[in-house]
Amino acid sequence: MNPASTATSPPAAPGALPVAGHLWQILRDPLLFFERRHTGAAARTGVVVVRVGPRPVHLVTRPDLVRQLLADPETFEQGGIYVEGLRTLAGNSVAGCPAADHQVQRPILQPAFQQRRIADYSRTTEACADALARSWRDGQRLEMVQSMHRLAAEVVTRTLFSGPGTVQAGQDIQRLFPHLLAGLHRRMLLPVAWVHRLPLPANIGFASAVSGINRIVDKEIQTYRRGGRDPGDLLSAMMRATDPRTGAALTHAELTEQVVGMLLAAVETTGSVTAWLLHNLAVHPEVEEAVLGELSIAVGDRPLRAEDLPNLPLFKRVFAEVLRLHPPFWLLSRVTTRPVELGGHRIPGGADIAFSLHCLHRAPQAFPFPHRFDPDRWLPDRVTDAQREAHLPFGAGTRQCIGEVYGRTAIPLVVATLLRHWRLRHATGREVTPLVRGTMRPSPLSMTVTRRTAAFAP
Ligand code: HEM
Repeated sequence: MNPASTATSPPAAPGALPVAGHLWQILRDPLLFFERRHTGAAARTGVVVVRVGPRPVHLVTRPDLVRQLLADPETFEQGGIYVEGLRTLAGNSVAGCPAADHQVQRPILQPAFQQRRIADYSRTTEACADALARSWRDGQRLEMVQSMHRLAAEVVTRTLFSGPGTVQAGQDIQRLFPHLLAGLHRRMLLPVAWVHRLPLPANIGFASAVSGINRIVDKEIQTYRRGGRDPGDLLSAMMRATDPRTGAALTHAELTEQVVGMLLAAVETTGSVTAWLLHNLAVHPEVEEAVLGELSIAVGDRPLRAEDLPNLPLFKRVFAEVLRLHPPFWLLSRVTTRPVELGGHRIPGGADIAFSLHCLHRAPQAFPFPHRFDPDRWLPDRVTDAQREAHLPFGAGTRQCIGEVYGRTAIPLVVATLLRHWRLRHATGREVTPLVRGTMRPSPLSMTVTRRTAAFAP
């Protein structure tokens, strides 16, 4: 840091208690707590220090500064309150590993996400969604969040881990997710290691879910190895890969961590965003009708393919708006590797950094009437630079989501396949609150399905 610098220490958020800091406020209503930190004079300075228990965390509240830190992974290293929790689940997998390992791991995984592969995956995705649509009965009431997570688990396991037993494994893992995400959430908002070692029911449940997921994945990998064939999917790419620094292949334990990390990153996000998309379209039937009209003109009656998506501009805007309102990763973290200046603030080395995609996406400076669902704010003649800068559902920089194209393809394919045949409406109230855990998924979403086309015979 420049010794002649005029940088100042960032302001502290008011209301911290001596040891607990802001912990009770955060635990009571995390979204409200972080939203409040994004308003007022302190937020405009761009960095404000909140106390997550005894730990001071530098919350970055301006999108330009978040982009700046994401562009500098050497200084803002993967780590901090979110990543520590993630590592208890997925060890040193690509999403949580430090930069030096990331340089090795990311190129190994990248080929499985090439455009050519995504086109192959899209046929499987459409087939899984079609089978689900055919299994529904007219007037049936379904818990849509659960249903979409189950579908996401099936799609992800069939495309990325296409071994013989992986569909069942995906379903089993998906059942453990609520325990895993709740544990991740507790570790993130109460980052005090000894608390999570106490023999409390929540800790015991989390430990058992972690060993459960590891056991399932471990068994799958062994089945793959015994099978001896190469289906050319993500898991086989990971098994073939060697570390260019040492020439060594991934060990069994490392492979297990990668698979657990990838499943968590892929299933939770796609399942939740699909459910949010269905919810928003049911609340806005006029938008839903327009999306279906666009689909019918661009695609007709044939199955939707990945190649069709660029011809669906309204659907793309709707998707952008859903990702804005409901980014699954609502809070992310980093740790500084050296003293640094950010937005005129002095931040020491080893400091905890956090930023909230949820809050950035609802900042009125970038998004007028931020809580309003308005897909047309993404029309080319309405979208602003401030809006583009603040919209970060897939992150940015070297750690930008590896599954972005996969998610951008799979989610619309699923939604289009379901909605062409069924009208989904809320069975109870239309109020759906976010369930804030390690990610942000909709709270239970009970919907009734009504058949649209007589021609569609399940
Ligand atoms: C709508 C769907 C999705 C959203 C909104 C989303 C969002 C994100 C975000 C914000 C990050 C960056 C985290 C950070 O900066 O610390 C990320 C990373 C990641 N995502 Fe996604 N994701 C989605 C779907 C997927 C899918 C489908 C996969 C896998 C098939 C996936 C795998 C990953 C992985 C492995 C990383 C870590 C990348 C790295 O550090 O190099 N995601 N995702």
